[in-house]
Amino acid sequence: MRELLGDAAERAMRYLESLDSRPVAPCADAVAALQAFDVPLPERGAGDAATLRLLDEIGSPATMAMAGPRFFGFVIGGTLPVTLAANWLAGAWDQNTGLYRVTPGTAHLEQVALRWLLDLLRLPPECGGAFVTGATVANLCALAAARHAVLAHAGWEVESRGLFGAPPITVIVSAESHPSVMKSLGVLGLGRDRVIKAAVDRQGRILADRLPELRGPVIICTQAGNVNTGNCDPIAEICRRARRAGAWVHVDGAFGLWAAAAPARAGLVAGIDAADSWATDAHKWLNVPYDCGLAFVRDARTLQAAMAITAEYLPTQSEGRNPSDFTPELSRRARGVEVWSALHALGRAGVAELIERTCAQARRFADQLAAAGVEILNDVVLNQVLVAFGDEQQTTRVIDAVQADGICWAGITVWQGRTAMRISVSCWATTDADVDRSVAAIVNAARAAGPAAARA
Ligand SMILES: Cc1ncc(COP(=O)(O)O)c(C=O)c1O
Repeated sequence: MRELLGDAAERAMRYLESLDSRPVAPCADAVAALQAFDVPLPERGAGDAATLRLLDEIGSPATMAMAGPRFFGFVIGGTLPVTLAANWLAGAWDQNTGLYRVTPGTAHLEQVALRWLLDLLRLPPECGGAFVTGATVANLCALAAARHAVLAHAGWEVESRGLFGAPPITVIVSAESHPSVMKSLGVLGLGRDRVIKAAVDRQGRILADRLPELRGPVIICTQAGNVNTGNCDPIAEICRRARRAGAWVHVDGAFGLWAAAAPARAGLVAGIDAADSWATDAHKWLNVPYDCGLAFVRDARTLQAAMAITAEYLPTQSEGRNPSDFTPELSRRARGVEVWSALHALGRAGVAELIERTCAQARRFADQLAAAGVEILNDVVLNQVLVAFGDEQQTTRVIDAVQADGICWAGITVWQGRTAMRISVSCWATTDADVDRSVAAIVNAARAAGPAAARA
């Protein structure tokens, strides 16, 4: 065992050290070599060492260098070394973190991490919280709590009676809501298409004064951090209107919620603590391993009402918080350990510095690209930069060339009718030099694509 795990650690370190010098996207040969995995189920096992070797020799080259410093494709960070180390240790612990009495160590760490998160993100200290797989499931959990609360207020117990015959709920989403919110609404029986879509401005922010009249059971889904522009809805103003009508306000803050942790950005989400529920990710800007999302709900009882289970064989009586009272899963890994580790290692100041640094790097991208004659489509307020290189065809050609070149990787999007390259800066490992190298690669690709792509 010692030899095998030592070999795995050695291979993992070699892999991470290779990321700076290899192309960000896997090359075609590495992807073709994956066929080595396509063998019939072995009748006799190949053994541990040979299995690990094959995994590394064929698997490692076929990965996208998401853990590296120049992957800007989605709003996802890398993995802080301390959180990878914590992940290894917690993996060895193998704790099924559903019940405090059974796994007190990891359940306790989650409890502490939750308290720290609420403090760091400036959310109400009484919130209940769930450590889930990602912001998609965090949205689902928070909206399940919302569904419970607005229907309970109307005298309907949705968990026992279901939705058939229930008072209708008005659901208002942003015209720019993330698809995971729509998916959550569909799963919860609230309908992807029966929602009211609130109008937004050119940055994707809800126009609060254009919200419809709020009457009866109402859930409003707002957003902190638009996946394209990084901009945030006027959540404080929306909460003021909602409060008067008794409506529930949910915030999808998959990455934008972290603005609250950085004093210079906190203004973007000022007043966000007036909402009722929030979803975010730790595997994005906090740079912990996948999968790690977080749901927070002001009235913890509503989340518990939606999620808790009991059974004769489960020791649910407990002196501490039972994680499974707040999540869809019963059995799950101890993902809060990595959150605790990141927060313990970085501290409040370290998280603020990480957020500030990556926002400054997004600004650096925008300034240098603009200076090279490239069009920037958004107000760069956070870590997102939207770039167009002329029309759809030109922009697509530049993005394809950048991805093939391998210095950096950024993806394609369509923002309010314009095809654009989306650059998201969220990785702890990205340096200013990485930004400069990436800008040079993008500008080269733009110049090669023709004069309309980069005017300078
Ligand atoms: C605003 C927003 N909400 C939700 C999600 C979904 O997050 P996850 O992929 O962690 O489920 C994302 C992902 O980028 C996002 O940006």
